[in-house]
Amino acid sequence: MITDSQSMVCNGLTKIYSKSQTKALDSISFSVPSRGVFVLIGRNGSGKTTLVRILATELEPTSGTATLDGIDVVKEPDRLREKIAIVPQEARPIPWMTPAQTVQSYLLWRGFGYAEAKQRAHESLERLGFSGNSNTLNRMLSGGMKRKVLVAMILSSEAEIIFLDEPTTGLDPISRKEFWEVLKEIRGDRFVVLTTHYLEEAEQLADKIGILDNGKLIRIGTLDELRQSVKYNYSVKLLSKPAPAFIRLREGEMVTGRDGYLRILTTEEEAFSISRDLSRGGFKFTINPVVLDDIFFYLVNHGGKAGGDTEEE
Ligand SMILES: Nc1ncnc2c1ncn2[C@@H]1O[C@H](COP(=O)(O)OP(=O)(O)O)[C@@H](O)[C@H]1O
Ligand SMILES: [Mg+2]
Repeated sequence: MITDSQSMVCNGLTKIYSKSQTKALDSISFSVPSRGVFVLIGRNGSGKTTLVRILATELEPTSGTATLDGIDVVKEPDRLREKIAIVPQEARPIPWMTPAQTVQSYLLWRGFGYAEAKQRAHESLERLGFSGNSNTLNRMLSGGMKRKVLVAMILSSEAEIIFLDEPTTGLDPISRKEFWEVLKEIRGDRFVVLTTHYLEEAEQLADKIGILDNGKLIRIGTLDELRQSVKYNYSVKLLSKPAPAFIRLREGEMVTGRDGYLRILTTEEEAFSISRDLSRGGFKFTINPVVLDDIFFYLVNHGGKAGGDTEEE
């Protein structure tokens, strides 16, 4: 077994929820350095939350092992808990507390003394842009600020490994970008494990990206490494279905998503030529150089590794 004091390692990690007999994780194995930002992407139900909860010692796997910096998540959860902090999916700060009270009580709970908790809470809230409003009730804050209260909590602790499960789902675009700035700031001294279904977010933040689909890890690597999975550098995405029959490719690949929409991955020249035909025919489409969204689409729909029935997001 590979263990490494500076990495996150999973070996054959499997989770079957006993009640429903759902296999949420199907023999996941990977190793990533425990620094920077590791982003897990995948559709709803692909297993992101399950994986995060196991790694954060909230849930035990059915079989397989996982270690963080050499510490086994099942055998030594207490040792690990000192090093980690998690913001669960859909977590919100308690509405009738203030940001200052929220962060401070979290620190007290983590074992800090009163004075230090107060000081640390103040510092982390300042760092996240709370000044006048750290003493207003959480329920009065915007969605973005509420999320930031949770980040302030884990930032203020000494946790070296931070799990953020869909921290930006439902945030407006401006709050989401503000959130990215915060993450860019903290990535230097912590290891952040983030899940998202905004692929632009993964593209902006990730040092490494793992793609989950139907409980399987279908790819892991840097953005550049994932890019190698797609041979072509342009993408034409049809915005209506079914796709017109007149499309004939000289070069490239046509991939139909599980939702029935067609995407064409091809060369720049071919992409523009198809675009002209689509325009003339009055079809709606987008054309762009290949981004993570296209790579993801290609891998989950083309790989044929996981024939699921989940909806396209
Ligand atoms: N507590 C649970 N009990 C039973 N099934 C669950 C539970 N949590 C998640 N699942 C199922 O496990 C699969 C993976 O879910 P999840 O890890 O939440 O995926 P994601 O976070 O990518 O949306 C889904 O099929 C989901 O319905
Ligand atoms: Mg989830």
